[in-house]
Amino acid sequence: MKKTFYIFLLLWSISPIIAQQKISLDEGWKFHFGHSANPDKDFDYGNKLLFHKSNIYETTILSPKFIDTTWSTVNVPHDWVVELPFVKSTTHEMDSHGYKPVGGTYPETSIGWYRKHFSVAKKDEGKRFEIQFDGIYRNASIWLNGFYVGTNFSGYVGNSYDVTDYINFEGDNVLVIRVDATQFEGWFYEGAGIYRHVWLTIRNSTHIPTDGIFAHATIDGKKAKLTIETEVENKNLTGSTAFVYSYITDRNGKLLAKTAEQKVELAVNGKTTLKQQLNLSNITLWSLENPYLYKVYSVVKQNNRIVDQQKVNFGFRTVAFDAKKGFFLNGKNFKIQGTNNHQDHAGIGSALPDFMQYYRIKLLKEMGSNAYRASHNAPTKELLEACDSLGMLVVDEHRLLNSSPEYVDQLKRLIKRDRNHPSVILWSIGNEEQNIQGNEYGKRIALSLMAIQKELDPTRTSTYAADMANEYKGVNEVIPIRGFNYREYAVADYHRDHPNQPLLGTEMGSTVTTRGIYEKDEIRAYVPDQDITHPWWASKAETWWKLAAENDYWLGGFVWTGFDYRGEPTPYKWPNISSHFGILDVCGFPKNIYYYYKSWWSNAPILHISPHWNWEEKIGQPIEVWVNSNAEEVELFLNGKSLGKKSMPRNSHLKWNVVYQPGTLEAIAFKNGEKITSKVETTGVATKVLAVANKTTVLADGKDGVIVNVSIVDEKGREVPNANNMVFFELEVDGQIIGVGNGDPSSHEPDKCRNGAWQRSAFNGKCQVILQAGKTTNDLVLTVKSNGLAKAKVVINQKK
Ligand code: GAL
Repeated sequence: MKKTFYIFLLLWSISPIIAQQKISLDEGWKFHFGHSANPDKDFDYGNKLLFHKSNIYETTILSPKFIDTTWSTVNVPHDWVVELPFVKSTTHEMDSHGYKPVGGTYPETSIGWYRKHFSVAKKDEGKRFEIQFDGIYRNASIWLNGFYVGTNFSGYVGNSYDVTDYINFEGDNVLVIRVDATQFEGWFYEGAGIYRHVWLTIRNSTHIPTDGIFAHATIDGKKAKLTIETEVENKNLTGSTAFVYSYITDRNGKLLAKTAEQKVELAVNGKTTLKQQLNLSNITLWSLENPYLYKVYSVVKQNNRIVDQQKVNFGFRTVAFDAKKGFFLNGKNFKIQGTNNHQDHAGIGSALPDFMQYYRIKLLKEMGSNAYRASHNAPTKELLEACDSLGMLVVDEHRLLNSSPEYVDQLKRLIKRDRNHPSVILWSIGNEEQNIQGNEYGKRIALSLMAIQKELDPTRTSTYAADMANEYKGVNEVIPIRGFNYREYAVADYHRDHPNQPLLGTEMGSTVTTRGIYEKDEIRAYVPDQDITHPWWASKAETWWKLAAENDYWLGGFVWTGFDYRGEPTPYKWPNISSHFGILDVCGFPKNIYYYYKSWWSNAPILHISPHWNWEEKIGQPIEVWVNSNAEEVELFLNGKSLGKKSMPRNSHLKWNVVYQPGTLEAIAFKNGEKITSKVETTGVATKVLAVANKTTVLADGKDGVIVNVSIVDEKGREVPNANNMVFFELEVDGQIIGVGNGDPSSHEPDKCRNGAWQRSAFNGKCQVILQAGKTTNDLVLTVKSNGLAKAKVVINQKK
């Protein structure tokens, strides 16, 4: 057996591989605003005939000869909305999107034109060329060298286009994209532009098409039967014969098993799917604690040469949803402890470099969260890769409950793209479609979408996020997993009436909190940073989590939301430009409620006191002190004097009324016999800036990056909880600052300081700066200053 593998490896290494080349087209785009209401300002779009002939060449913006040198140069991911100013308005469209001037009312900032020049090698003539867009917001019309290529309507699901016939092998190739963000798809900040990666794939005429591999397995203890479905396509004018095989390696690349070669005859323009199987023993399961990823390859050979080879990462795991006992991963029962999230982050809007996906998923995982719902749209691939490799479960959501060809196609693209990810445990076919979820339309559409899901991925099932309390009629009658958006009080009755339908809290909780704020402030639009305030349709964290934790029939649930996101200011409007629903703010700084969830979602010993202890103006007055902990008993001390010992109710918190005196408020607790302590202290005045980077080394690839969190501290290094000092950032050498933020949901300061010094005020002691690596191995040196305070310096090594 072993010998065969070595022979295979030997042959594999000497046989020439002419597989696909996937080239990044992220860098060096030219960008200019168009105009949605005036063709003269929209590069004659609407004045000139652009669709009357096959190739629109000489005189339009689509021509490679068009001069775009005065346009700005941007790299993708790019979100133009994050750079626009905030504009006060009274419309729902504007407040839900974070008061940014985009949409039909703002014609001058709602159309973006992008142009990208690239060249290809003459030696590649005869190959197939495909352009792949991972995500453009939205309604993107695409031309190459004056030829119309296609329109991607979706702002979230990407698409690929075969552009072979339009390639110029002699000189410049120019991709032109008109992005039209005059219509919204959601009711939250969506950004606009080419905000995900762009790729050029060069491949042989006989090849595995994009997303053409589907690997799935049945598992029996340590044994597995792996099925690999490989699509093979022939783009020749003549039929073609190929041989296809698949193999699997462990994560280090060690070959474990290989199928026989299977002959396939492909007709002219033919496409076929081959199913091959491998039996494996002694598999390592993919789990949250050990997210072990194998590599599965499919190989296409012609005339004894490898003409294509594609890889997908794969994890062996079983998933079960039981209506009475709850959720099981690999036979192990635990609660789904999830968060809902939109895709934007402080400073950068929706244009997240890949390293940000890992940063955000890690923060959620550290809190004890084990699941992520991509609400309400297809996430980017890199987010799923982060979830696969860090161990986070995902509910992958389709944008609309609609079965028209457009939305069916979007669902198909989503499932084909994502069905190999072990992290994806469930599809969601939609969210809160109030006009149809309770009637026959909703039911019929749900059935159509579920049939597509089953066709493309029989290994998983679907849910739908319904704000329907215990109503059954409509989508709920047919959906395999009933999703509850809020109305946690109705879950028990629903379970009584429909005991065989598993129940998931698709949106739960939804306490609104502003980090570091302890009084409601209607002027600045802040809400207290405790588990107190929630909209009428929602609940406090403790209300839903107690129910979910204590009743086996709950699979668990997803908090609305993990992170704050732009748009949807609630309960206030302007000046509030971002939501407060997050357990973490928009920078990822924890709010107090973080410690509630971490207490009951993780095994780490937690003891957290709030509020801070800087209340000069409240000496002698009572202050409500909250303690979040998972210890059995907690005793609180003010300046060494005991204020009493209390036992901690499960899934809850403790409170003391403390007459304020400056000094130290300390808690001492015992968890499993181990002592834990925690304190808050009255700090001195701010004297220094402290800056902490999330890593010390980055790859010098122009894409990797670092998140630097800044605190304003006193002489003893204690964060000053109400410090709002302006902070200035200077970066030396070739990396760049790509965004700044502070988590203040009412801040109107710019996130990008393109035309001047980079700066951001701290909000309640903290702010954040995000750096992107350069391409040399010089150190990145960031200086962080604030007037009158000692400065901080951060040095990051760049390595090749
Ligand atoms: C839900 C909705 C979410 C968000 C949330 C705010 O009804 O599904 O997208 O709008 O309300 O509370």
